[in-house]
Amino acid sequence: MTQEDVVLPAPREAEGRSEAEAGEREPLLVVEGLTKHFPVKGGFPIRRTVGQVQAVDGIDLTVAVGESFGLVGESGCGKSTTGRLITRLLEPTGGKVSYRGQDISHASRRELAPIRSEIQMIFQDPYSSLNPRQTVGKIISGPMEINGIEPEGGREKRVRELLEIVGLNPEHFNRFPHEFSGGQRQRIGVARALALEPKLIVADEPVSALDVSIQAQVVNLLQQVQRELDIAFLFIAHDLAVVRHFSQRVAVMYLGKIIEVGDRTSIYTRPRHPYTHALLSAVPEVAVGEDSAPQRERIRLAGDVPSPISPPSGCRFRTRCWKAAEKCAAEEPPLVRISGNHEGHLTACHFPEEPTTEARDEDIVLDPALAALEDGGEG
Ligand SMILES: Nc1ncnc2c1ncn2[C@@H]1O[C@H](COP(=O)(O)OP(=O)(O)OP(=O)(O)O)[C@@H](O)[C@H]1O
Ligand code: SF4
Ligand SMILES: [Mg+2]
Repeated sequence: MTQEDVVLPAPREAEGRSEAEAGEREPLLVVEGLTKHFPVKGGFPIRRTVGQVQAVDGIDLTVAVGESFGLVGESGCGKSTTGRLITRLLEPTGGKVSYRGQDISHASRRELAPIRSEIQMIFQDPYSSLNPRQTVGKIISGPMEINGIEPEGGREKRVRELLEIVGLNPEHFNRFPHEFSGGQRQRIGVARALALEPKLIVADEPVSALDVSIQAQVVNLLQQVQRELDIAFLFIAHDLAVVRHFSQRVAVMYLGKIIEVGDRTSIYTRPRHPYTHALLSAVPEVAVGEDSAPQRERIRLAGDVPSPISPPSGCRFRTRCWKAAEKCAAEEPPLVRISGNHEGHLTACHFPEEPTTEARDEDIVLDPALAALEDGGEG
């Protein structure tokens, strides 16, 4: 199959639902104090629990109906674990996950059944997440079969509709995954996630495995799906640039904690946490106008991310922070609205940066292909 076989959806305006509008809608997902510790076994001949990987350690977040919420952070900070806890592929060690007001933190299979179809997941790797021995039609209709759902006009008709929605040729329902490119396979993953008309999709790094040019197309598709079908997204990424194009609100994670959260504009133009600054400074800038804009100094973080088995006391970022002081080791900074922050912008830091970085929003662009999204093109 060639790129020409792809039926691309019509380009749309690129910006998502306004941040204010998203903030006004009722909460769909509420996460409070969510914690996941994985036991570490050791010893011989009797293996005992010798420690805990504090993968997720007491996070709070809320996703409104139809909102796209971005979750960003370096490898190993607990993003996927958070996604798996929310979709209940994992059971939390502590805290609470509420979906439409119902506490599902420890719900049994039977209790989860009525809402299973409403929460779907899109995975990072479009190669391993599709069964190579099943046709595309079988893959996409799988969730309908499992849940005993017979749509009007039959499953095949619904599969064709879904293929069309995700910009693939509806006649290709009998083909196998290997006949598609990476981007097209990810579209198949999106079609499968849409099959049961979900209200919430947890997309775990859905474009990280794709070429940058293809990333833009898939991000655009997800954006259309989010707005037109009014689906809420928890969009997980390690890259602030990708999330910026998709999410009305963004949370930054570090070593199992959320260290900063807020509206997209606030996070990108007035970041307060030193770690958010460092992440933003790593995003390549595009020169604006004839005279190239002064390049923002890249902040190189010293040292490695500490082990989540024995995270630093106080602020977990302190071993890599250039502002760390005694207080940072003694006291964990609470995630709160600090002076100078916009409403809803919370930061966990004792010595936050000044909010003086206006104009970041204009000059931070990952790649020209993603930048094209800003103009409403298909990348
Ligand atoms: N089943 C498990 N058992 C033990 N430790 C685990 C398990 N799953 C994840 N971890 C650990 O928990 C921490 C968080 O992992 P997680 O996969 O959530 O991070 P991530 O932010 O998604 O990283 P990446 O960007 O690499 O996907 C890591 O230190 C990881 O090694
Ligand atoms: S609390 Fe201290 S160590 Fe942590 S980010 Fe703020 S200044 Fe740095
Ligand atoms: Mg992950």
